[in-house]
Amino acid sequence: MMGGHHTDNLAPNAQTYKQNDPNMPEEFRSLLVNLLLNQHLENNGNPEYRRILGNIAAAGLKFAPHGRAMEIEAEIVRQEVHHGQIVADLIAGLGADPNQRMEIKQYAFHIPLEDWIDVAWFHALIDRVGLYVGVEWVGSSYEPLREIAPSLESDEEFHTRAGFLHLKEICRAPEGKAAVQKRLHKWWPAALDMFGRSDSKNSPAYVKWGIKSHTNAELRQKYIAEAIPELKKLDLEVPDNNANRRFL
Ligand SMILES: [Fe+2]
Ligand SMILES: [Fe+2]
Repeated sequence: MMGGHHTDNLAPNAQTYKQNDPNMPEEFRSLLVNLLLNQHLENNGNPEYRRILGNIAAAGLKFAPHGRAMEIEAEIVRQEVHHGQIVADLIAGLGADPNQRMEIKQYAFHIPLEDWIDVAWFHALIDRVGLYVGVEWVGSSYEPLREIAPSLESDEEFHTRAGFLHLKEICRAPEGKAAVQKRLHKWWPAALDMFGRSDSKNSPAYVKWGIKSHTNAELRQKYIAEAIPELKKLDLEVPDNNANRRFL
């Protein structure tokens, strides 16, 4: 028995659970399944994830300006396939079927990648959001999630870093830099919208069970604070954080 205090319903649940833990409450299990199946896009069992990964792979290989960049793109895609398998296994480990078609709701994944600048921004800003998923999962009360979090985080760190290196290379030419700046107005709001609505009703239940420790708004603020210095290193002007957002 935990606690015995009157604050039990409010305090974050400190209890952690292993796979197949017979004491795992059903609400906890179903919140986790919902998180992995509906909210997290990486899942090899979802044909929509394969389709989007195919688009990223195709654009990366088609537009990479040289062989070294192609290698980096191929490595990123290999890691994303690995993430998709890890998540599929986690879903199955919770007794749910990972092989389900799930619509991918974040519109950033539906923005067409039309040239190398789009590919570079996609990695720099959209893969970067994955870092903050890692930050959340490191503290998760579900042990298998906690165990895989550091490797997901370091992979996503490589993806965002690769994106910024691609951008730096493009920015060496003045016309490249102007195009990179212009395209930031498309990708910055899409990245910020990835964190979901600030008033999302889902978050408190996840926080209560210790599955998540931050709200959408908190993670978005952390992202903004840490991404802006990277943009400044490229000598870019950062758009207004509220401009062109689809929701706040
Ligand atoms: Fe990933
Ligand atoms: Fe990634």
